This record gives sequence, C-alpha cells and structure tokens, in this order.
Amino acid sequence: QAALPEGYKLRPLRREDYSAGFLDCLRVLTTVGDVTKEQWDERYDWIAKQDGSYFIVVIEDTTAKPPRVVGTGALLAERKFIHNLGSVGHIEDIAVAKDQQGKKLGLRLIQALDYIATQTGCYKTILDCSEANEGFYVKCGFRRAGLEMAHYH
Ligand code: ACO
Repeated sequence: QAALPEGYKLRPLRREDYSAGFLDCLRVLTTVGDVTKEQWDERYDWIAKQDGSYFIVVIEDTTAKPPRVVGTGALLAERKFIHNLGSVGHIEDIAVAKDQQGKKLGLRLIQALDYIATQTGCYKTILDCSEANEGFYVKCGFRRAGLEMAHYH
C-alpha cells in the first residue's frame, strides 16, 4: 500500500466537507454546477442512508490552513442475484486537485476503495475511464475489460 505524504489523511466524506473544498476537488473531473448548502445536505443525507453500499472517501491535507480536501473517490457496492448473490464494486468520480497530482494520492484512493470493495464482499471492482487515464489504472492493478456504452438524457 502506498503511504500518504506527511499530514495527509484518508477518511470518509463528512457533511462539513462542503466548505472544505470537496466540490472544487471534483471540478478537476467534470462540471459540478452551483450546489447550495441545502442541496448538499439533502444529497449527503441520502448517500449516508445507503448504509453499506455507497462509500465516498476523501484525502485531506491537514497541514493547509484551513485543512483542504485534495482528493476524492467513490465506491458503489452493487448487490446482484447472479454469482450466488454476488456483489460488484463500481469505482466512480476519482479526482485529485491539480496542484496535488503525481503524489500517489490517486493510487491511494483506488487502493482504499478496492479494499472497501473486498471487505463488502465484492468479487470484482470495475470502472469506466478515458484512454488518457488507462495507464494510471493499469498502475493501480486494473486491466482493460469490455467496452463502455452510454445513452445521454
Ligand atoms: N497516464 C499514465 N500514467 C499515469 C497517469 C495517466 N494519465 N496519471 C498518473 N499516472 C501514473 C503516475 O505516473 C504514477 O506512476 P508511478 O507509480 O510509476 O510513479 C501512478 O500512475 C500513480 O499516480 P498518482 O500519483 O497516484 O496519480 P494522481 O494522484 O495524479 O491521480 C488522477 C491520477 C486521479 C487520474 C488525477 O490525475 C486526476 O484527478 N485527473 C483528473 C480527473 C480524472 O481524470 N479522474 C479519473 C476519472 S475516471 C473515474 O473516475 C473512474
């Protein structure tokens, strides 16, 4: 397992992370939009209720003043009927703040989420990514499998 730099902590998402840079961190990945505190609270509570199937972790730089979220990732454990009621882990929304990339934070996030998947009984962990990120996921121990398709609404 890769070690985090001194003063960095990996932990579950907290409600207070709304004002700790969590959404800004996600902006390196895609459009986030303007999420109000009320909207955040509602979505946070919904996710928190999905006990045991929806995990969001963050990496916090505790040395920053104030402490700042510099990385995040999510794992959804999907309970199935197939494979003897097996579960599949889905890794989603991996993002490391631009000025923090290249410090193995992404690797550490993937390792943590894959560990949660194992602990939740998932027989595999899968994800979708761009060709540009394939090398990163290969370094994390993943390999190309299948083809993603999408229907946008
Ligand atoms: N292509 C090839 N290799 C890469 C890439 C890449 N795009 N990015 C990192 N690596 C390598 C690193 O060089 C390192 O290799 P090493 O062990 O030989 O030194 C290894 O992968 C681990 O890299 P980290 O330092 O852990 O990567 P980082 O913390 O910078 O995070 C990430 C990588 C998450 C892709 C980051 O660049 C990022 O946030 N990008 C923008 C958002 C994004 O594209 N997220 C992923 C979307 S896919 C999804 O969410 C399922």
